[in-house]
Amino acid sequence: MDRIRIVGGRRLEGTIPISGAKNATLPLMIASLLTDQTLILDNVPRLADVNLLQRILSNHGVDMMVPGKRPGESQEFGHTLHIVASRIVDTTAPYELVSKMRASFWVIAPLLARMGEAKVSLPGGCAIGTRPVDLLIMAMEKLGAQIEIDGGYVIARAKNGLKGGEIKFPKVTVSGTHTALMAAVLAHGTTVIENAAQEPEIGDVADCLNKMGARISGTGTSRLIVEGVTRLGGARHSVLPDRIETGTYAMAVAMTGGDVLLEGARPELLQAALDVLKQTGAEITSNNHGIRVKRNGSGLAPVDVSTSPFPGFPTDLQAQLMALMSKAKGTSRITETIFENRFMHVQELVRLGARIHLDGETATIQGVERLKGAPVMATDLRASVSLVIAALAAEGETMVNRVYHLDRGFERLEDKLSACGAAIERVSG
Ligand code: EPZ
Repeated sequence: MDRIRIVGGRRLEGTIPISGAKNATLPLMIASLLTDQTLILDNVPRLADVNLLQRILSNHGVDMMVPGKRPGESQEFGHTLHIVASRIVDTTAPYELVSKMRASFWVIAPLLARMGEAKVSLPGGCAIGTRPVDLLIMAMEKLGAQIEIDGGYVIARAKNGLKGGEIKFPKVTVSGTHTALMAAVLAHGTTVIENAAQEPEIGDVADCLNKMGARISGTGTSRLIVEGVTRLGGARHSVLPDRIETGTYAMAVAMTGGDVLLEGARPELLQAALDVLKQTGAEITSNNHGIRVKRNGSGLAPVDVSTSPFPGFPTDLQAQLMALMSKAKGTSRITETIFENRFMHVQELVRLGARIHLDGETATIQGVERLKGAPVMATDLRASVSLVIAALAAEGETMVNRVYHLDRGFERLEDKLSACGAAIERVSG
């Protein structure tokens, strides 16, 4: 199994190109199930999760091409994907596949909307919490689906098609909102989605669906209105930049000191995180090319932050902020309000010398003068990258194990960081 070796203590200087967002790419690929025409996605990141979803979708009959070569032929996954689901050959998503990637559960809504039935395995638990799908089921039921749970599978049926209705989410859910949208676009009549998630990835998917012929309005607000249409067509869409990758590298620069342009990044996608970074003492400016992050000399100021749905501080940057605050001059508090168990990085950061006390959903971090390299590992993607950030500023060598988590969500992580002067390399085997 690959590992990543980091020798800390180097400043980051240069340019990091920001990739397309993983969490927009996955639902965009899934949206291809809604039409028999070709969906072309540009700016697709080369990630293990994208490859895995490709395999999952091919099980339903979806064909995917990277112009010039077949996907999977080399590590160099293309930036443009041609996806066509001309014929759905199977409406079942089996446990073996869904359990590997939770987001693949989301195929349920487009399969139901297009084929009138879907049988998708419940995804099971995961490292960051219980993550139920009750609200996704509620959304489909509100549009007239009959749902049954049998043998670990959710079986959804709407023999005469889905019907527009009102879906009011009791809590903000990204997966619930994607599901409601993908179910509603082909329903008869109008659907109103209240308390919808406002994450930029939802807006990106809605934009793409509209290019395919859907009629969605209200994107970027908590009230989405969908007028159902009878069919969707093909479209070409470029995936928006990854705000979590952006925030992660911004925190890495704040941690090590330096001066880096995050090329292609858009500040409006992560304003809350940039505001927190400014509070810590990082200098943030932006222009047409991206976001520039600088920190020279001065110590980091501590912060008090709670995660919340967009436009709040994202849970997907919580671990990285904790790594950063482990070297702040003073005591920080970080409260996780989205996932109940998203603190797997705490004990690993402690192995690097961080002083963190966990009490329920709040972590108190007492900044230390120096961190020291050690072997570490983590059980999810964002936790793993928080260890990379800490290691970049730790004395000596850190070996990050279980690199496959990083490969799920960070394109060419070690290349991007080493191009800016970090001593980071992948060790095979
Ligand atoms: C998406 O997960 C992201 N995944 C997550 O990113 C991200 O952390 C999360 O949104 C929050 O921003 C993808 O986009 C692929 P939710 P999702 O539905 O959609 C509860 C990463 O590292 N809930 O908004 O699954 C749920 O348990 C990943 O890239 C229910 O109670 O998140 C959680 O507490 C990790 N019932 C809260 O809502 C439901 O039916 C928010 O979950 C659904 C969700």
